Amino acid sequence: MDTMKRSIFLSALPMISLLFLFGRSALAVENDCIQNRATAPAPYDEYIRTNPLKPTLENILAGKQLYQGGAKPFGCVPCHGILGKGKGSTARFMKVKPRDFSCQAMMKDIPDGQLFWVIRNGSQGTEMMSFKTLKDEQIWQIISYIKQFSVPHHQKIDLFAISRKEVKKPKLPK
Ligand code: HEC
Repeated sequence: MDTMKRSIFLSALPMISLLFLFGRSALAVENDCIQNRATAPAPYDEYIRTNPLKPTLENILAGKQLYQGGAKPFGCVPCHGILGKGKGSTARFMKVKPRDFSCQAMMKDIPDGQLFWVIRNGSQGTEMMSFKTLKDEQIWQIISYIKQFSVPHHQKIDLFAISRKEVKKPKLPK
């Protein structure tokens, strides 16, 4: 009996070690993107605010337009990058790096109210400036958009849906 147990264990051993090795490295990769975030927290009342807008296609696309250049004096791309990874063209000159919005492990712990407060007021001592000219609604739209960078792929809102709807289905011969 003992030899049987031993042989079962031995035959399962490669599987167990594979799980151990790859399970761990998958976890490490997921957390690798977490930045050393020393950003001041928003005052409590602001911190606990939640996005009043629904993440509809319209809101997300409006946020995308502001993110990609609609916001004044410029959008978020030069610093946060077109894919939200915090690697815009100017990022390498900065001591404190722009936030990586694609990092799910980090973004899931930053509440909407905190994002709102930093976009409105900036982050002192860093290049993150304040966007005072944006209306509240526009900031929430941007937040709906930047959240899209970190949601798992299958939950992403389909930003191409509108343009696809415009494509008429060809009529099939009867
Ligand atoms: C000139 C460069 C620059 C521009 C432009 C810029 N950011 Fe940032 N942003 C930064 C930097 C640097 C940080 C990191 C600040 C820190 O760690 O405190 C940051 C951090 C943030 C954060 C993180 C807040 C937190 O609590 O972690 C948010 C949200 C953000 N930016 C949103 C935006 C949005 C939205 C825009 C465009 C409307 C924008 N930023 C434009 C440089 C920029």
